[in-house]
Amino acid sequence: MSDQGGSEPIIQYCGIHKAFDVPVLRGVDLSVGEGEMFALFGPSGTGKSVLLKTTMGLIQPDQGDVRVAGESVFYGGPKALSAIRKLAGYVFQNAALFDSLNVLDNVLMGLPEDELYALSRSEAARKAWNALELVNLDPELVFAKLPAELSGGMKKRVGIARAIVGRPRILLWDEPTTGLDPVNTAAVERLIMRLSRELETTSLIVTHDIEGGLAMCDRVAMLEGGRIRFSGSPSQFRASPDPVVQAFVDRAAAEAQLDLAGEPSGVS
Ligand SMILES: Nc1ncnc2c1ncn2[C@@H]1O[C@H](COP(=O)(O)OP(=O)(O)O)[C@@H](O)[C@H]1O
Ligand SMILES: [Mg+2]
Repeated sequence: MSDQGGSEPIIQYCGIHKAFDVPVLRGVDLSVGEGEMFALFGPSGTGKSVLLKTTMGLIQPDQGDVRVAGESVFYGGPKALSAIRKLAGYVFQNAALFDSLNVLDNVLMGLPEDELYALSRSEAARKAWNALELVNLDPELVFAKLPAELSGGMKKRVGIARAIVGRPRILLWDEPTTGLDPVNTAAVERLIMRLSRELETTSLIVTHDIEGGLAMCDRVAMLEGGRIRFSGSPSQFRASPDPVVQAFVDRAAAEAQLDLAGEPSGVS
């Protein structure tokens, strides 16, 4: 577990710029090592989700590139992009399930199209079954249910099952614990650690749960003002003399105190 990412980088953000009405990302450089558990922190609205989405080409930067396992997301052509999308599973911020599809079909949406069409219905169902078991849901109970029939925590687990069904090497987690009470937050964080270990993935986790992120991860970074303000080990983060990092850590701790009832803390 290196402080500086001793392993080969598997994700590299290189000079990422992105503006919507106003500049959001203003030159983000960050690299995540193969096999790492990596947490990305930052105030609400700083572009954490935007950055995560560039990893799979879901958002196109104005400048810069992302390299995943050595392939360029934006200059590698459609073949490279499709290979990258097979390598990575994305856990969306609000589960983002399809309301009209049952759990089985929602999970199968996580398989690349060519793979899905090459499988028989029962082979596909077996993959979904295994993915649901891995997230501690009883497939028999939930397979036919619609998202509206599930609790918030179950929806999150279905969203995770969809991200892992294709057995990705990389898992991108966008606020996996937002909106959960402390007990469910701890349960989902244990699940993230177990899945990352069992599936031998690299995990990049955007989270507002600073304490959880610091406890779980080998390295952490903070996005602020459109750039990476800090990147290093959890202990370096805690000890950072940077007043902006300090203020963020202090505020996150205060919000965690206020949030014991599990309300999301305005950090989206
Ligand atoms: N598709 C989009 N179109 C326009 N603006 C967007 C889009 N996606 C994100 N933004 C804006 O970019 C900024 C960063 O958003 P986001 O990455 O969701 O922040 P974070 O995840 O750090 O809370 C916000 O101001 C948001 O409104
Ligand atoms: Mg976000």
